[in-house]
Amino acid sequence: MILPILHYPDKRLRTVAQPVLTVDKTIQTLVKNMFETMYSEDGIGLAATQINQHIQVVVMDVPGEQNDYQLLLKERSGKAKSKKSGKPLCFINPKIVEKQGSEIHIEGCLSVPGFHAEVKRFNQIKVEALDEKNSAFTLEATGLLAICIQHEIDHLNGILFVDHLSKLKQKRLLEKTKKTKKTAEA
Ligand code: NI
Repeated sequence: MILPILHYPDKRLRTVAQPVLTVDKTIQTLVKNMFETMYSEDGIGLAATQINQHIQVVVMDVPGEQNDYQLLLKERSGKAKSKKSGKPLCFINPKIVEKQGSEIHIEGCLSVPGFHAEVKRFNQIKVEALDEKNSAFTLEATGLLAICIQHEIDHLNGILFVDHLSKLKQKRLLEKTKKTKKTAEA
């Protein structure tokens, strides 16, 4: 089931998500629907906050070099896939336990459609979480995967990537959003 995504500046995106107490069927269904929603919007990550569920659940599918290579081989053999895909990942109650370095990357967000901006983040992180089968795992991530994890954990804390921008850029974005809304309603 594809779920509606909240859009900036919706106040509900500011809600701090609660930890998941039990990874049960309800959570597994939510995870399934979140993946479906993320893929339908061509996203690489989605936090439960964005679909107005305020619990600590994140899904992600970040294209990786290895996977791109495998995809290329598939395309050459005639079994082309339309989308580049990495490994689907689910993080329940994620916690960043180690972080270092920094990297500036252009980010976008399904909750802020049509807007991209540079954000500075840690470029190496270690995250602990549960998966949708309730197994605990630790993941060391770099590059785009590390950036995406930080972006999604921000969502769970009610933080959007635009909050990392200068006050002036945020003001301009807000004005642009209001203008678009007005035009759409007219
Ligand atoms: Ni986002």
